[in-house]
Amino acid sequence: MKYINNRLTIENVNFQKIANKFGTPIYCYSYFKLRENINKFRKNFKSFSPLICFAVKSNTNINLIREIKKFGLGADVVSMGELMLALKAKISPSKIVFSGVGKTSHELSFAIKKRILLINAESLSEIKEINRIAKLKKKKVRIGIRLNPNTDAKTIKQISTGKKGNKFGVNKNTFIKIVDYCKKSNNINLRCLSVHIGSQILDYKPYKKMLNAVSDILKKVDHEFEFIDLGGGMGITYSDKNKNLDYKKYNKAILNFLNKHQVKIIFEPGRSIIGNTGILISKIIYIKDSGKKKFIILDAAMNDLMRPALYGAIHKTLPVTKSSKVSKKIYEFVGPICESTDKFITLKGFQELNEKDLIAICDVGAYGMSLSSNYNLRPKPVELLIKGSKIKVIKKRQKYKEFI
Ligand code: LLP
Repeated sequence: MKYINNRLTIENVNFQKIANKFGTPIYCYSYFKLRENINKFRKNFKSFSPLICFAVKSNTNINLIREIKKFGLGADVVSMGELMLALKAKISPSKIVFSGVGKTSHELSFAIKKRILLINAESLSEIKEINRIAKLKKKKVRIGIRLNPNTDAKTIKQISTGKKGNKFGVNKNTFIKIVDYCKKSNNINLRCLSVHIGSQILDYKPYKKMLNAVSDILKKVDHEFEFIDLGGGMGITYSDKNKNLDYKKYNKAILNFLNKHQVKIIFEPGRSIIGNTGILISKIIYIKDSGKKKFIILDAAMNDLMRPALYGAIHKTLPVTKSSKVSKKIYEFVGPICESTDKFITLKGFQELNEKDLIAICDVGAYGMSLSSNYNLRPKPVELLIKGSKIKVIKKRQKYKEFI
C-alpha cells in the first residue's frame, strides 16, 4: 500500500476508484501481500519444514482460504462450520487439525468421519467422548492433547491462553494421566502434543519458555509423539511503535528443542498470514464538532471491525487522499452504532478532513471480517481481493433481505 499522487493505492488500484465502484465500507485484501507473508513464514522455519495449518478463525472467507490452500497450507479449525469450510475449500483432511475446549459429540463425529489429521483434545472428558464415538464407529482416531504450559505470553490479557487460570488445555499432571488413559484405549491413537499460549505475541521469550515446558513433560511421559503442534500467535506490527517478533530467535529455540526430541512441528498461524493483507475503507458520513474534539462519524462501525471495541486494539488509520493541511482539533473516529465503545481511534494532528472523505483502517485482515456481526441490523461489507490491477469480489455486500 502506498500513496501515488497523494492517493492511497493497494497494488495497482487506488481506493477512491474502488469506493466509487463498490460503495463503502469495503474490506480489501492484497493478494501479493498474502503470498509474501506465506513465503516469509515458510522461510523463517525452512530448516525443519513444519506443517502450516492456517487458523481459519482469523479469516473465514472461502476464496481467501482457497488461495491459501494453493500455497500448500493446511487448516486449524475450531468448529464444525470451520471444518466444513476448510473441506469445501478442498484442503486435504490430512492437513486439518481441530482445536477447541468444547467440541460437541456431533462435531467430533463429523471430524472422525472425515478422517482429519488430528483432533487436539483439551480435557479427559473430551477424550472419553472421542473414545466412545470411535468405539461405536470401530475406528482408531488420531488425537493430540493440548497442554496448558502455564506460560505468560506477555500479550493483551484477553488473548492470552497459556496461563494456569485460562480455560485452555490441561496442566502437566492431568496431561500425564491422560497419556496413560490413551495408551490403554484401543480406539485412540495419541500422536500429538499441542500448545497455544496466546495471540499477537511480539516477544520470542514466552515461546522459549513454552518449549521448555513441553520438553520437560516429554521427558516425564513414556510415549513417542509424532507431532508437536506449537499453535500460532505470532504478532504483527499494528503501529510504528510496535516491535517485531524475532523469528530467528524463535526458530533457534525450536531447533534446540528438535535436537532433543525427534518430532514433526505443526504451526497454526492466523494473524501473521492474513493480518496485514486487509484494509477497511470507510466514508465519513458526518463531522460533529464538540468543542475540543471533532467526531468523525464513519460508515464503518464496531459490527464491521470489533477489535478496537473488544480489546482496545489500535489500527493505523490513514486518509485515502492526502493533503498537507493539519487539523487543530483532536479527531475521534467513531461508527454509527448505539454504543459508546463504537470508536476506532482518537488522533491528534491528523490532516483536515471533510464529510464524504474516505478513510483507510489498516491491518484488518485477521479477526476483522471474521468477528463482524449484524449488530444494529447493519449489513456486512463487501470483500475484494486485489491482484495487481485486477479486482475480484470475493464476497458480496450483504443484502437486507438476507437478514430481514
Ligand atoms: N491456534 C489456536 C488454538 C488459537 O486459539 C488461535 C487463536 C490460533 C491458533 C491463531 O492465532 P494467531 O496466529 O492468529 O494469533 N480475536 C483476537 C484474537 C483471538 C485469537 C484466538 N485464537 C484478536 O482480534 O486479536
